[in-house]
Amino acid sequence: MYTTELQKTAKVVSTEDPEKLAAFEARVAADEFIEPKDWMPEAYRRTLTRQISQHAHSEIVGMLPEGNWITRAPSLRRKAILLAKVQDEAGHGLYLYSAAETLGTSREEMIEALHSGKAKYSTIFNYPTLTWADIGAIGWLVDGAAIMNQVPLQRTSYGPYARAMVRVCKEESFHQRQGYEIMMHLAAGTAEQKRMAQDALNRWWWPSLMMFGPPDADSPNTAQSMRWRIKRDTNDELRQKFVDITVPQADALGLTVPDPDLAWNEAKQGYDFGTLDWEEFYAVVRGEGPVAKERMKARREAWESNAWVREAAAAYAEKKAARKEAA
Ligand SMILES: [Fe+2]
Ligand SMILES: [Fe+2]
Repeated sequence: MYTTELQKTAKVVSTEDPEKLAAFEARVAADEFIEPKDWMPEAYRRTLTRQISQHAHSEIVGMLPEGNWITRAPSLRRKAILLAKVQDEAGHGLYLYSAAETLGTSREEMIEALHSGKAKYSTIFNYPTLTWADIGAIGWLVDGAAIMNQVPLQRTSYGPYARAMVRVCKEESFHQRQGYEIMMHLAAGTAEQKRMAQDALNRWWWPSLMMFGPPDADSPNTAQSMRWRIKRDTNDELRQKFVDITVPQADALGLTVPDPDLAWNEAKQGYDFGTLDWEEFYAVVRGEGPVAKERMKARREAWESNAWVREAAAAYAEKKAARKEAA
């Protein structure tokens, strides 16, 4: 699948006007932002549309595992924080759909692609949230991994995407801290609470590492994306960074990272860690995640049962426009 995609990319690039392509690449190399009305190679437009819309879908689907806990948060304070966090994710989805729309694909097309199963979203959201500690682990690890992925995207070459990321990253850092704070309380609580925290870490650790995508060797799109500065770091580089930052955080909590191969490597000044279960990753990508069907069902139901809101908003906009015209 990846090879075909790469071949397609190569073919499309070679059919572009060489002068325009060279001028485009020179601008990107000079770290200039590419804006919606600028000329861009079709493969750049396509890659970005896919990446930004997948990112938008991930934000929206990502509301589900946590939304599930809003009514069961252990205190009013926790409920208010979680509500704000889930609402932020909706906002991220909206900025990102808007950014993707500037590339010429409508929001309806993107939503349709998500609901029909054609479009992908982050595999992490197809895992269930079994206990309150999962909300802590998600904030700490999943939002933590998201930050690691997204901070470099503030300098991605496509202007609207880069600008959306500035605000998203500020909010993500609040998400990461609220998750870590939940883990701090649980890890310092009763024996049962500590067990819950450890269990959540055990279940979310490996899926979080998978959030950086397949190993560089199996990710042939990476080279082209780095050249066009859509990506600024490779999957493996970001994964390593995440492990190096997160392991000491687990130590501070008194929790154990569930990886017997984890060891500090003095020479590389980073941790060595075990091999990820890529079979599981590709299965989840194919839609075989533990709660994948549930997630899509929830999305489709929300879309259908809230159709009246879209219809009312459109009718109101029409009425307002008609009144303006009459005046
Ligand atoms: Fe987000
Ligand atoms: Fe977040």
